[in-house]
Amino acid sequence: MQPRALVTGASSGLGAEFALQLAADGLSLVLVARDAERLEELAAELRAARGVEVEVLAADLTEAEGLQRVADRLADAARPIDILVNNAGFAVAEPFHASAVDDERRMHELLSWVPLRLAHAALPGMRARGRGGILNVASLAGRLPSGTYAAAKAHVITLSRALHARYRGEGVTVTALLPGFVPTEFHERMGVAPTSVPRQGWADASTVVREGLRALRRRRGLVVSDWRYRIAAPLIPLVPDRIAAGFGLGGRTS
Ligand SMILES: NC(=O)c1ccc[n+]([C@@H]2O[C@H](COP(=O)([O-])OP(=O)(O)OC[C@H]3O[C@@H](n4cnc5c(N)ncnc54)[C@H](OP(=O)(O)O)[C@@H]3O)[C@@H](O)[C@H]2O)c1
Repeated sequence: MQPRALVTGASSGLGAEFALQLAADGLSLVLVARDAERLEELAAELRAARGVEVEVLAADLTEAEGLQRVADRLADAARPIDILVNNAGFAVAEPFHASAVDDERRMHELLSWVPLRLAHAALPGMRARGRGGILNVASLAGRLPSGTYAAAKAHVITLSRALHARYRGEGVTVTALLPGFVPTEFHERMGVAPTSVPRQGWADASTVVREGLRALRRRRGLVVSDWRYRIAAPLIPLVPDRIAAGFGLGGRTS
């Protein structure tokens, strides 16, 4: 049986790139996001180009029913998932004092609770099979005191490290991927002009995804991507919080 990966947020950006690279490696796929039409288009393209099996699972992961369907799919022992990519995400654009509290809740659920819930669904099967991989798309923002998005990403970094330390010896790798700025639909969906980030600061989506998958294969617990951010990362703790709060999300300081 071909190994199979489930990718959340596969309808655009990094998630679509994960689907492309995993299919190129011969993996069957389960694609998850809200936009069924975009997922079907990508699925057809991957079936035709790569000859892999692709299932489409349209779901809003911030709705209990949608999240349960995806969790059930991950726990289905008859059609095992070898790799879970927790990638779906968005950021609240408004500063904390002005944001809608329901947007904050949905963001926190999607970035913090959903990866935990889906890892919880996938892990028992992976442990029973003695192998599996979970790749959590966090962010370098998770190392910064730059708003509630950063706080949620800090949670998924710690979660990944904890699960990796606990389950690595049983054959299950949990890797946190920490990208910097990547040109996807992310900033546009936030309504933030990405022009405040100098062009040299943008990392290429294909490089970020390749480095994330390589780290997972090499059973690493954490990877910062790309090389520019690997150089910058050790300097972050040296920057005072009031300055570091202005980094991230194209200069927004919530
Ligand atoms: N771009 C960056 O600069 C950057 C940097 C660091 C980390 N990241 C992280 O990378 C991940 C991917 O983001 P991206 O940059 O690729 O942005 P993107 O192009 O906006 O993609 C976000 C994906 O998440 C899905 N999604 C959003 N809300 C969802 C929900 N409620 N239920 C299910 N799926 C949902 C979207 O699909 P639908 O709209 O079809 O649901 C889309 O496929 C996120 O976790 C983000 O925080 C991005």
